Amino acid sequence: MKKRLNTNTVFSGLSMLAIIGMLTISGAANAGIASTKHNLSTSGTGTVKSTDETEICVFCHTPHQAIKNDNIPLWNHTLSAEASYGVYTSPTFDGASSVQDLGGTNAATAAVSNLCLSCHDGTIAINALNNPSNALGANPTMTGTGAGGVIPAGPANIGNDLTDDHPVNFLYDASLYAADSSLNDPATLTGVRLFNGYVQCASCHDPHESVNPAFLRVDNTGSALCLKCHNK
Ligand code: HEC
Ligand code: HEC
Ligand code: HEC
Ligand code: HEC
Repeated sequence: MKKRLNTNTVFSGLSMLAIIGMLTISGAANAGIASTKHNLSTSGTGTVKSTDETEICVFCHTPHQAIKNDNIPLWNHTLSAEASYGVYTSPTFDGASSVQDLGGTNAATAAVSNLCLSCHDGTIAINALNNPSNALGANPTMTGTGAGGVIPAGPANIGNDLTDDHPVNFLYDASLYAADSSLNDPATLTGVRLFNGYVQCASCHDPHESVNPAFLRVDNTGSALCLKCHNK
């Protein structure tokens, strides 16, 4: 009896260590949005941040009075009014039949990529919120922004021309896979993410990601991100 108890103690001690080990590894793997440039609150670690808003999520989401649209998650950042971003085109681009211009959208028609563009096209002030936090009661005051309070000039300001960027806002489905044998089967993708079957900015990026550079869903060493979808 005594021996059995001791054995159990050793086993539970070991499994406890294993659990602690796993927790430590997963904890280190994703420290969360707080340590990224998307923490735009007073606790932010980047140069673009607020001097008075302490909440992190409020720059993009709100629990109530969100911009209503069934394709976007409780969105709180004013959407861009750009008329056109253009669309990627090439003689070999098989997704051309479904690709749609992200310009000319409104609150009801915006796609997931429009959420990123609401800051990254450089036309809307970072602090332009639909529903400011109750605690602050007003749009946040910012530091580090460009003229007009928009995202500063530089690589993060991708502008309003998407014709020279990796295509987004097109269907990556079984028929595209059938048409292009150099793609992986969209039904078996791992690491990356499709939105209602569409490739969007957030297919490659997770705006809450703190593990890989540039919010990438998959570390792109050896082009591992590209190879998740492209069978080259
Ligand atoms: C800089 C903008 C930004 C901030 C800040 C932000 N999010 Fe998001 N969030 C997004 C975008 C864009 C999406 C849609 C794309 C996606 O799901 O990856 C999203 C999706 C989500 C979703 C639904 C889909 C999913 O990925 O599970 C949840 C839940 C969410 N966010 C929670 C949060 C919480 C909680 C916070 C604060 C701790 C937060 N977000 C901060 C931009 C942001
Ligand atoms: C989430 C999946 C996904 C990821 C990740 C991805 N791509 Fe793509 N990419 C596609 C799909 C789908 C197409 C459309 C292919 C087609 O229709 O010809 C495409 C199109 C392209 C094209 C244009 C093809 C043409 O015929 O004009 C190039 C080049 C390309 N991707 C390169 C890359 C590179 C480089 C990376 C990594 C930085 C990457 N892709 C990551 C899904 C992805
Ligand atoms: C509320 C505004 C806002 C939204 C929405 C937003 N971002 Fe950002 N993002 C920023 C700011 C501000 C920076 C930092 C810019 C700087 O430092 O010059 C940034 C930086 C980045 C960077 C560069 C990170 C680095 O380490 O240099 C990437 C990549 C990025 N964002 C991708 C996205 C994507 C993809 C989405 C949508 C899924 C998105 N962002 C949505 C405001 C936003
Ligand atoms: C097919 C994958 C893919 C898609 C789709 C994609 N990106 Fe990226 N993005 C990347 C990669 C990979 C990098 C890192 C480039 C590098 O390291 O040079 C990057 C870098 C960035 C950066 C950092 C600045 C820079 O030029 O390095 C921003 C900002 C950004 N992306 C925003 C977006 C936005 C906004 C969208 C949608 C309109 C988008 N991305 C769609 C793969 C993608």
